[in-house]
Amino acid sequence: MESRFPFTSFPNGWFRVAYSDELPVNKVQPLHYFGQDLVLFRSEDGVAHVMDAHLLDSRGAEEQRSRGEKTISVILQRQGSNKIAPKAQVKPWDVREVNGLILVWYHAQKELPTWEIPELAEYNSSEWTPFQLVGKWKIRSHIQEINENAVDTAHLQFIHQVYSAQAVAFEQDGAILRWLCHTKDKLTSDTGAIAEVINELKFTYYGLGYVLQHFYPGAPFQPGVMFRQEFINFNFSTPIDQDYVETHQLTSFKKPVNQIYTSKLESQMLEILTIESEKDIPILENKIYRNSPLLCNGDGPIMQYRRWASQFYTCQTLTKVLTTK
Ligand SMILES: [Fe+2]
Repeated sequence: MESRFPFTSFPNGWFRVAYSDELPVNKVQPLHYFGQDLVLFRSEDGVAHVMDAHLLDSRGAEEQRSRGEKTISVILQRQGSNKIAPKAQVKPWDVREVNGLILVWYHAQKELPTWEIPELAEYNSSEWTPFQLVGKWKIRSHIQEINENAVDTAHLQFIHQVYSAQAVAFEQDGAILRWLCHTKDKLTSDTGAIAEVINELKFTYYGLGYVLQHFYPGAPFQPGVMFRQEFINFNFSTPIDQDYVETHQLTSFKKPVNQIYTSKLESQMLEILTIESEKDIPILENKIYRNSPLLCNGDGPIMQYRRWASQFYTCQTLTKVLTTK
């Protein structure tokens, strides 16, 4: 079946494949991402490893050796063999553990990582609630399309019931993209008075697999209004195969003084975030990708985003992406 998108489903970068607390020492876990079977395990020294689940055929092993790639041979070593045939060796993936995540580096041409995911100051901070899973979804879409959602300011008004949204800043720094927009809500207080509140949404993309969103409310908390709380959303997307992407969303709230209120707020906000996230899914699964969409004022920096995203594709898939300029 022909792809819905004019570029590969597997852009280069860092992608979440598991959570650190799910992988104790000696646990072995099968994975399926990037259209292939993988094995995740944690060795006695506490280090997480990801490897291809199946040995290469003799031709593939020879190609790896000819490129001088480092290989390991865990499977046969675990069976007590001390003489490992070169053809029975497999190459480990580059793995990082940061912010409670196990991430792998995918590169279509097997090149080494050129940038890293930084530690997040709010992770494990006493001033923030522990990150909780909002939801995880298997979406029939492309990872670039899923992340384009955030720069599509117009849809915030019509899909997510924001009163209005406005682009403020779009800055790119290599693999990092910082995107700032303001949204306006009209709130009704207990007395019936209507107040306009401006919120700030600050997104930081680290490639296409890891997106951080800070939400800063523009007004102090008002009883009955659940959005008056600063929070952080983590959005992780990892290609499963040519057609599907696995997306996880986690959230953490800045703690107010009243802990009881925090718990109530968290449960209500988790429900709201789940509802809002799931509104996008049927659109993502059915929309058509157009190289040159008819954009209007207020649509957001969609073409700038696409040009930034084009750096994550290898040359054989770049030609069509560049036509979007
Ligand atoms: Fe959305």
